[in-house]
Amino acid sequence: MTIERAGVIGCGLMGSGIAEVLARAGLSVVVRDINDDAVAAGRKRIEKSFAKGVERGKMTEQERDEALGRLTFTTELSEMADRQLVIEAASENEDIKKKIFAELDAIVTDEQAILASNTSSMPIIRFAQATSRPERVLGLHFFNPAPVQPLVEIISSVVTAPEVADEIEKFSTEVLGKTPIRSDDRPGFIVNALLIPFLFSAIRMLESGHATKEDIDTGMVNGCAHPMGPIKLADMVGLDTCLFVGQSIYEETGDPAAKPPILLSRMVDGGLLGAKTGKGFYDW
Ligand code: 3HC
Repeated sequence: MTIERAGVIGCGLMGSGIAEVLARAGLSVVVRDINDDAVAAGRKRIEKSFAKGVERGKMTEQERDEALGRLTFTTELSEMADRQLVIEAASENEDIKKKIFAELDAIVTDEQAILASNTSSMPIIRFAQATSRPERVLGLHFFNPAPVQPLVEIISSVVTAPEVADEIEKFSTEVLGKTPIRSDDRPGFIVNALLIPFLFSAIRMLESGHATKEDIDTGMVNGCAHPMGPIKLADMVGLDTCLFVGQSIYEETGDPAAKPPILLSRMVDGGLLGAKTGKGFYDW
C-alpha cells in the first residue's frame, strides 16, 4: 500500500506538528479536533511553523503554500473515512483515546488502513483492543518539535502484525525522512523511559534547593552538550505531559525515578504548564 491519505486526531502541540510533517512529505492530511477554537489554534500553530520554516530556508513559499493546500481541518471524525493512516494525538487520557480508536474502527473503511497512537507512554495494546483490527494498530511516537526532531518510535503491541510495523518503518524513513527506532509496548517505550527520570531528577534537584534552574540547565547544556537543559525541556514538553507520562510509567513499574515530584504536580494544578501557557519554570 502507498500511503497518500493520512488523518491526525488532535491538533495540540504534537498533533499540529505531526500534521505538518505529513503535509510537508506530500500527503493529503485531514486534521480533526473537537471544536472550532481548537482547530483554529492548531491551524495557527502550523502556519507559524511554516513561516519559520520559510524564514530558516527549510522550504520555499511555494512549498509552504502547497503543503498548506494539502491540509484540511475539521471537527468531524467521520472525515477520516477514506484515510489509509490515522495518527491519534489526543490528550493523554486513556479513556478518551480508547473511545477515539473504537470510533475510528467504525469509520475508517479501508481494511488495510493503519491506526496509530502518538501516546507518550500508554500501552498500545489497550487501544488495539478497542478495535476489531488490533493487528493493524501500533504506536508511532513523534518528538517535540515534530518538524525538527528526526526521531520516531515505532511500538508494536503483542498483537501488531509484523508487516504493519515494517510498513510504517519504511514509510517513516522513505516518505517522512525520519529516523525510526523500534520498541516493545513497555511504559515510556525507549525515550521517555530514559528521559522522564532524568527530567524528574532535575526538578527534584531544584525542589530541594540543590541548585538554581539556570545552573541545572547550564550544566547540561555546557557540560554535556544537550541542546537545552532539563528544566527548560520540561517546560517545552509541557508540565502536564511530563506529569501524565511519569504517572503512567510509575503506575505500571513502581519505579521511584518515574514518580512525579510534588513541585511538578503543584505547578500543573496551578495551571503553570510551561511554554504552551506562557509560564512554567520559566516565562515564555
Ligand atoms: N520548520 C523547519 N525547520 C525548523 C523549524 C520549522 N518550523 N524551526 C526550526 N527549524 C530548524 C532550524 O532551521 C534549525 O535547523 P539547522 O540546525 O539545520 O539550522 C533547527 O531546526 C534548530 O532550530 P532553531 O535554531 O530555531 O532553534 P534552536 O537551535 O534553539 O533549537 C530546538 C530549538 C530544536 C527545540 C532544540 O533546542 C532542541 O532540540 N531541544 C531539545 C528538544 C527535545 O529534546 N525534544 C524531545 C522532547 S521529548 C518528546 O517530545 C516526547 C514526548 O512524548 C514527551
